[in-house]
Amino acid sequence: MNQPSPRSRSFTLWVYPGRSMPVQIGSKTHSFSEPTALLSDCHRRIEMFLGSLQRVAGLTDRPLNNESQQALEAALRYFREAAPKHTADEEESLFPRLRQMNNPELESAIRKLEPLEHDHRRADTLHAEVDRLGRACLHRGALSADESRRFREAILALMDIYKEHIRIEDEDVFPAAGKMLAPSDKAAIAGEMAARRK
Ligand SMILES: [Fe+2]
Ligand SMILES: [Fe+2]
Repeated sequence: MNQPSPRSRSFTLWVYPGRSMPVQIGSKTHSFSEPTALLSDCHRRIEMFLGSLQRVAGLTDRPLNNESQQALEAALRYFREAAPKHTADEEESLFPRLRQMNNPELESAIRKLEPLEHDHRRADTLHAEVDRLGRACLHRGALSADESRRFREAILALMDIYKEHIRIEDEDVFPAAGKMLAPSDKAAIAGEMAARRK
């Protein structure tokens, strides 16, 4: 079993290889048999850390207090280290399997995958900007007024993308996947998700 490191405890995937045992990413626990529920759990963390970024974004034109620094640091680390694994879970493990199934019942969900992948690329660019400005803020203690404005705008743009993106995944794609994927596919997806977090 992987031991969570103290620094990343809340984002660690606990793995029990070869057995149908609970997998934990963060505070909620789902079984290997429901990888799309694990992906939805990740969405709750994305929303939580976007909220942290939004709160800090109103304060960056003056020196941040300790609490805001820590919140910013944690959110930047999450989007730098954990969120890309979520994108890979979708783009490398879930989406290809849905496309391969060629099932008419999945047609509407499959049509949404390409726009979702496009959202991922737009979000990547915005995350890079947020990370660069956020790290500058932590390094220098504050941002200029112009940098603060760009930081805020990038975070608002991310929130705008994620709002509909997460809704489509949680309400359309994941339920269809949960219904149509074979148990063996679900186990393979969960196994790949676990491997990304070793
Ligand atoms: Fe996504
Ligand atoms: Fe997602």
